[in-house]
Amino acid sequence: MESRRFFSSLSLLAALTVLCLCMGVRSQLSTNFYAESCPNVFKVVRREVADALKNEARMAASLLRLHFHDCFVNGCDGSVLLDGSDGEKFAFPNQNSVRGFDVVDSIKTAVENECSETVSCADILAIAARDAVVLSGGPSWKVLLGRRDGLVANQTGANTNLPAPFHSINTIKNKFAAVGLDTTDVVALSGGHTIGRARCVAFRSRLLSFSPTGSADPSLDSTMASELQSLCPQGDDGSTAAALDRSSVNAFDNHYFSNLLNQRGLLSSDQGLFSSDEGVAATKDLVEAYSKDAGLFFKDFANSMIKMGNISPLTGSAGEIRKNCRVVN
Ligand code: HEM
Ligand SMILES: *[C@@H]1O[C@H](CO)[C@@H](O)[C@H](O)[C@H]1NC(C)=O
Repeated sequence: MESRRFFSSLSLLAALTVLCLCMGVRSQLSTNFYAESCPNVFKVVRREVADALKNEARMAASLLRLHFHDCFVNGCDGSVLLDGSDGEKFAFPNQNSVRGFDVVDSIKTAVENECSETVSCADILAIAARDAVVLSGGPSWKVLLGRRDGLVANQTGANTNLPAPFHSINTIKNKFAAVGLDTTDVVALSGGHTIGRARCVAFRSRLLSFSPTGSADPSLDSTMASELQSLCPQGDDGSTAAALDRSSVNAFDNHYFSNLLNQRGLLSSDQGLFSSDEGVAATKDLVEAYSKDAGLFFKDFANSMIKMGNISPLTGSAGEIRKNCRVVN
């Protein structure tokens, strides 16, 4: 009697352990998630991203940023792609700013033709971001897969969670920490600004003619400041875009960091990483290290991209595999 009870509780324990292990495995992303259900997904996405970059090199930057803005809001769940006036597309950091939705549609169509209703839009963003970096000359990494698509967009979440160019480095660190990313991730991932552009509205408060104090940001190189001032005429809508990395806008390299050493960061949040403030000492040292060692930057960037891609994924039977990335099924 006693031993039977012992053995039945033992088997209950065993059953629970197996259940927990399975759930643990299911909630993990894996590199071979589509190995059987869509073995050619990598080939198809790479081809589509390459086509898009042939048409416009900047699209690499836009695709990378889409994955970032997806992951910081309700996790990497494709929520940034959802249409609708209450969508994340219309949050402040995204409106008139994030781009690449048509390219994501083309990738999705090509992937659906290869294997229908199998690959999530969230995973497509993760693969496309990696391919965009590789095709721009940056590092490669094995993309973890198995995310499912969310059922809701979160405009408030986008306004709250995404960092702004006028935020202090401490505020930015806090926004990264809120999604489980540390100071190394802040600096390495800011290196994404080695490609792409920002509109005058994102940095013109640093220029002489617009600054409330009537003087240019002292941490901005004066030659660069006057170039930017002619690019961003006072009183226009500020939609003209400037290279985030002025020495090599389409190449994924470590010039973003050497620019910071020369006070040639475009955004205040870029240059702030190399400030001499006590509180940002750790970021300053990393900027210096990455400026000297592209290999170290590439290694850390790839690591941090994998970490960012792991933010709160929907797995198992949560969410869905969207048929059209713009709308829930
Ligand atoms: C650290 C805090 C960050 C801030 C404050 C920030 C801010 C910005 C701003 C203001 C722009 C220009 C938007 C516009 O003018 O329309 C931009 C562009 C961009 N951001 Fe960030 N960003 C940050 C982190 C990141 C991260 C983590 C990534 C990716 C790993 C990233 C990738 C990009 C790219 C590639 C562009 C250019 C997009 C294009 O040309 O279409 N940024 N960012
Ligand atoms: C939206 O995002 C905020 C901030 O991350 C979060 O607190 C909130 O629960 C989210 N809302 C929904 C509906 O997911």
